Amino acid sequence: MTKLIELNRAKRAHEPGPSLLSLHGVDAFHGSIQCLHQVSIEIMPGSLVALVGSNGAGKTTLLKTISGLKANRGGTVSFEGRDLSRVPAHHRVKLGIAHCPEGRQTFSDFSVEENIRTGGHLLSKASVEEDLEKMYALFPVLEVARHKLAGLLSGGQQQMLAIARALMSRPRLLLLDEPSMGLAPLMVEEVFGIIARLRSEGVTILLVEQNAYEALPLADWAYVMETGRIVLSGKGADLLDNVQVREAYLGM
Ligand SMILES: Nc1ncnc2c1ncn2[C@@H]1O[C@H](COP(=O)(O)OP(=O)(O)O)[C@@H](O)[C@H]1O
Ligand SMILES: [Mg+2]
Repeated sequence: MTKLIELNRAKRAHEPGPSLLSLHGVDAFHGSIQCLHQVSIEIMPGSLVALVGSNGAGKTTLLKTISGLKANRGGTVSFEGRDLSRVPAHHRVKLGIAHCPEGRQTFSDFSVEENIRTGGHLLSKASVEEDLEKMYALFPVLEVARHKLAGLLSGGQQQMLAIARALMSRPRLLLLDEPSMGLAPLMVEEVFGIIARLRSEGVTILLVEQNAYEALPLADWAYVMETGRIVLSGKGADLLDNVQVREAYLGM
């Protein structure tokens, strides 16, 4: 199979070396309420890391501290060894951090193609055209619907659009916030298939999911979050077998 995505030429997870992203002792607040407590995570280049936890645990907030939509009050957020604490969100996109937000947030009055193009605003004109074709190869359903308004797409198609838009920034790290939320079972399978494909092509991914059953098997490493704290971490497959995780997140 030809390689469609060459967004991330980083080393694979099993090779020794420095992490791509590292959070150390991160605290974050919503107003006066602390919602992240001393969070530390590590993401190696080329790996897929899953972050699971129930509703309200702080997963979205954690992604926001990485993309810069939420400031961390304590601790450090380092990307390729550089502390991002004072780097604004738009500059973090330039550094290679793409955030595919919860609830997709596509522009419903724009066409599919216009939506995808907005993700490439940092690229040259030629690169936008080149990457647009790559996105259509990766998501044929979006090519068929290229002139359709995004608001008319199904939930699954909108999720693919949101992922395509994020990939247009040629990210070194892709943050995915609950991509399977609210999708019909067949679409869930399709979206996880896409994530597996991106992973196999070397894109470094931080995947936030309530659907631990689908996310953990894909994950090189996974973290479990509860009330703003990381309470458990391990290889994805090991956590899938963990009794605590099975009871809390898999209903077993
Ligand atoms: N904009 C906000 N203002 C105030 N509290 C918020 C806001 N967003 C999230 N919270 C609170 O922060 C906590 C973590 O939320 P969130 O990060 O969205 O969790 P998750 O993504 O795991 O469901 C929750 O208690 C939530 O109610
Ligand atoms: Mg969330």
